[in-house]
Amino acid sequence: MLALVGESGSGKSTLGRLVLRLLEPTEGRISFDGRDLGTLSKTELRKFRRRMQLIFQDPFASLNPYMRVGSVLEEALTIHGLARSREDRQQQVGALLAMVGLSPDMADRFPHEFSGGQRQRIVIARALAVRPEFIVADEAISALDVSNQAQIMNVLLDLKRANNLTMLFITHNLAVVQNIADTVAVLYLGRLMEIGPAATIFSEPGHPYTAALLQSIPIPVVSKTRTRAVLQGDIPSPMDPPSGCVFRTRCPHSIDRCATTVPELTTIAVGRKVACIRHEELAGLLNDSMRSRRSGSPTVACASDFHPAAREVQTC
Ligand SMILES: Nc1ncnc2c1ncn2[C@@H]1O[C@H](COP(=O)(O)OP(=O)(O)O)[C@@H](O)[C@H]1O
Ligand code: SF4
Ligand SMILES: [Mg+2]
Repeated sequence: MLALVGESGSGKSTLGRLVLRLLEPTEGRISFDGRDLGTLSKTELRKFRRRMQLIFQDPFASLNPYMRVGSVLEEALTIHGLARSREDRQQQVGALLAMVGLSPDMADRFPHEFSGGQRQRIVIARALAVRPEFIVADEAISALDVSNQAQIMNVLLDLKRANNLTMLFITHNLAVVQNIADTVAVLYLGRLMEIGPAATIFSEPGHPYTAALLQSIPIPVVSKTRTRAVLQGDIPSPMDPPSGCVFRTRCPHSIDRCATTVPELTTIAVGRKVACIRHEELAGLLNDSMRSRRSGSPTVACASDFHPAAREVQTC
């Protein structure tokens, strides 16, 4: 699982749609399974589309309110010719609903008869109906309450393992992916600031923006003052990005050179890249700030304070 993180407006959804070729890139190349998606014919692209699915943030908006959920799932199977007969189609619909933890009897109901969490399960079932290999989950749990977030995240993780899926998990909430992502990519104003193994990014962020996002995650300790978000101001307009490093207008470590030099994404360790011209000199400082944040280790914690994907949630 690759987690794509960044504040709202950093270009995550745009990148997710580009990867699926739902948007045309103005430059660059998108490869899937060794094929350049830009060179595929319409017929070839349709075949590739079946292998890649998108799960949106708002399950209600992405389900037709006038279609029973059984028909929604049947439609996905029919479009891609994945059912041999009516009976086969209905059987697959029942199996899909069971796969996401819903009763096959629910196939006759309309979307408004389900809760938000159940609707997101239906959307996941629809994505899985066409047996994809790659899923882009764009803020797939952000609209749900904390307990539903944990449940849906667990459904996604179990299905990912069972079906050997590759997942691009897009979220503005870094805390959500802490224990589940293999790799984390940090996006700001349409540019990658940092990419690397999740474990090292969380313990030793290499970019000031990543460090600021991590500092913004609340510490789950009762009676301790929560760490305030250190990021000041809003993300600039992508129509008029700052010169040099796009993060410089909000970076506490910015120097004059940051306004004139566009930092390259540079390899700093195996599988690890950072785009900051001061990376080496700031490394110690960023690590110290993370250490001091961690030093207030939790003693008593509430269930709602844990990140939603935590498998073992304590209660107060
Ligand atoms: N690489 C880019 N260059 C210029 N504008 C971009 C780029 N990526 C995204 N945008 C614009 O930035 C805005 C926010 O993008 P969006 O993908 O919705 O961000 P997010 O999903 O992170 O909130 C949109 O108006 C989008 O058109
Ligand atoms: S290049 Fe400069 S402005 Fe950009 S992150 Fe590094 S120190 Fe901050
Ligand atoms: Mg988005």
